[in-house]
Amino acid sequence: PRLHNRRTWVSECVFLSILDLTEQIQARRSVKKEWQAAWLLKAVTFIDLTTLSGDDTSSNIQRLCYKAKYPIREDLLKALNMHDKGITTAAVCVYPARVCDAVKALKAAGCNIPVASVATGFPAGQTHLKTRLEEIRLAVEDGATEIDVVINRSLVLTGQWEGSDFIKTSTGKETVNATFPVAIVMLRAIRDFFWKTGNKIGFKPAGGIRSAKDSLAWLSLVKEELGDEWLKPELFRIGASTLLSDIERQIYHHVTGRYAAYHDLPMS
Ligand SMILES: *[C@@H]1O[C@H](CO)[C@@H](O)[C@H](O)[C@H]1NC(C)=O
Ligand SMILES: *[C@@H]1O[C@H](CO)[C@@H](O)[C@H](O)[C@H]1NC(C)=O
Repeated sequence: PRLHNRRTWVSECVFLSILDLTEQIQARRSVKKEWQAAWLLKAVTFIDLTTLSGDDTSSNIQRLCYKAKYPIREDLLKALNMHDKGITTAAVCVYPARVCDAVKALKAAGCNIPVASVATGFPAGQTHLKTRLEEIRLAVEDGATEIDVVINRSLVLTGQWEGSDFIKTSTGKETVNATFPVAIVMLRAIRDFFWKTGNKIGFKPAGGIRSAKDSLAWLSLVKEELGDEWLKPELFRIGASTLLSDIERQIYHHVTGRYAAYHDLPMS
């Protein structure tokens, strides 16, 4: 029993210090007002603009791609003097069967935003290895350049790791998604791995990230834990579908001093 108590105590300590950190992050996330618009635009460039619906069609994929290319209304960007900076989202993220549509739509829009695809029996990953590998191959053949792989969690739980370029918090299809305590553990694992090997692994929180405020909290968390060098699309992505509309609303408010009515931001 003593051993048991001891363990409980240790894990509570860890738990408390993580809770503590979460509070600190939330307190620190109030980015100075004048910098807020700039940080929000930066957040846009990290978004993997995502649609993962059973009823995705080529037309909503087209809309998604248009939004990826023109994430913020042009006049708002002009007001911030950011209209010629080529701000787009980092990627679009779709199911394998929709990669073709996305590649076609982005090509038509004349841009080279990467197409990411969730392959490998997303979201459960419980299909045969053979079909999962084939799924990746087909998505790549259709033009996906980034694949979000659902890993075999029994391999993780038994410590049988292989490398990857990025680690992602969650599929967004679970009841609990990207949370700060989990993120801190993952970011520190990335930091430890960098210290040990010199390899920089990217981080992608995903699922349930909806508010502009949340996106700033994620940015500051990554900045605090890993430093500015991780704040680039090669090493940091935010998987999200509705976040961009909230960011655009906040920028609208910043520029005009009013809250946007529905018809003000029709493409959101
Ligand atoms: C996951 O890995 C374990 C251990 O290698 C294996 O037994 C199991 O079949 C794998 N699961 C899937 C869905 O591939
Ligand atoms: C997790 O993400 C999914 C997809 O974005 C969302 O439907 C669900 O409500 C989220 N759960 C929480 C607790 O935010």
